[in-house]
Amino acid sequence: MTKVFEESLSLFKDKVSDCVKSNKSISVTTHIDCDGLTSGSIITKALIREGARCTVRTSKEFSKNVVESFKTDSRDFHIITDLGGGFGKDLNQALEDNWIILDHHQISEEEKDNQNIINSWKYGIDGGSEISAGGMAYFAAMALNEKNSDLSEIAVVSALGDRQDQGDRKSFTGKNFEIANTAKDLGLVEIDLDLLLVGRETRPLAEALAFTSQPFIEGLTWNKETCLSILNSSGIELKEEGRWRVPAELNEEEKKLVIESITKFSPDKNTSEIMSELIGYTYTFPKEDKRSFLRDGREYSTMLNSCGRINHSGVGMAICMGDRNKILTEGENILTDYRKMIKEYMNILSNERWRISENENCVMVNGEDIVPETMTGTISSLIAGSPKNTGKIVILRTRGEGNTIKFSSRKSFGCKSDINLSELMRNGAEKFNGIGGGHNGAAGAKITKDKLDEFLKYLEVNVVNVSSGNSSE
Ligand code: C5P
Repeated sequence: MTKVFEESLSLFKDKVSDCVKSNKSISVTTHIDCDGLTSGSIITKALIREGARCTVRTSKEFSKNVVESFKTDSRDFHIITDLGGGFGKDLNQALEDNWIILDHHQISEEEKDNQNIINSWKYGIDGGSEISAGGMAYFAAMALNEKNSDLSEIAVVSALGDRQDQGDRKSFTGKNFEIANTAKDLGLVEIDLDLLLVGRETRPLAEALAFTSQPFIEGLTWNKETCLSILNSSGIELKEEGRWRVPAELNEEEKKLVIESITKFSPDKNTSEIMSELIGYTYTFPKEDKRSFLRDGREYSTMLNSCGRINHSGVGMAICMGDRNKILTEGENILTDYRKMIKEYMNILSNERWRISENENCVMVNGEDIVPETMTGTISSLIAGSPKNTGKIVILRTRGEGNTIKFSSRKSFGCKSDINLSELMRNGAEKFNGIGGGHNGAAGAKITKDKLDEFLKYLEVNVVNVSSGNSSE
């Protein structure tokens, strides 16, 4: 860890200790996605362990209105996780020195000089791939007390939720790697090379294969009947005592049979190609029940995303902070509803072709009156994951609260564009009095509806008409 990072964490510790000693109340404000819920939970749990008086809330975005709300809030000190980029000056004006941001989104050079902003980019850590907001919250929690090392488990979920498993075979790099190894050494996570089927712990094998879209296998992906038929012919026992077996229950021999069946079905893809995409690192939490959606790190992160996206952040945070029993059923129901909603929106978007305009660089999707504002990120990621959009930038828009338009952009797999989506969205939104930001490969923006035509023109000039490796921004 660099000296500057250590100094920032020590400042964080001092500020929290001061609050605890003088019985000042702390408010934690965090984002609604998986990384937001996990980072908020990590820091809240660490504060409770310190004996701090604190409350936590979620917000789907950060804005001047949120800063204004802090001014009238009775809490003495504010911690903001996974949000707040671009608002350092406003926070200073509203709260003087009584706030801290823990974040990993790209920020301007000017913000890096603000000591209350503890952002990975300030310390030379790539917040897009090497650390999540959960990871930043974890280091802050560790600065408070080394006993918080058990929270490394939740920071692994954060990094998976933000798709930071971008190393070889979906491994972690940088600080994420370090955190995952701490969790592993504590016996909290098992890291294995395994089949990367979606729903490893919960879905019947055929269904898990059908829902896996990386690799996308023509005829199998999204086709449950065909998956069932090839797996039936493979000789693998698909049921045990009348119950469908899940991917996590397969032995090595059976895993080989799965790969063999896929290769036979799809001869244009060779075995090594399929294996290289289908085998990667899995993160299993051995303390969670077998066949529970919390046992596999990626499923856990999907459940948290679903909680935040459909306005049940509290359920997700309760689970992260250790609540089990009844709350698990709630989490499970939320996940089912969320999957149903995604399917419905994707169906409508693919049937109503007028909503989509595309060229070789970019796919623009109009999700107005279909996709709720909180789900634009989920849907734009799914569109970017479709093989027909490989190499392109995807930009989805929908109506937001109070006469606004929300944009969500993603670089798809294999996209070689030099355009930094964080800068594109931030600069564009600022031109038209909106707010925007994020990461190089995933960013969002919000503008008022009256600026829509001008913003679309800006995107046309800076994305649609810019071929790979060439930006005029
Ligand atoms: O909203 P969406 O999911 O598309 O955002 C992609 C990424 O950009 C997320 O990590 C989100 O937190 C971030 N973002 C941001 N500032 C905004 C909008 C989105 O940092 N104004």
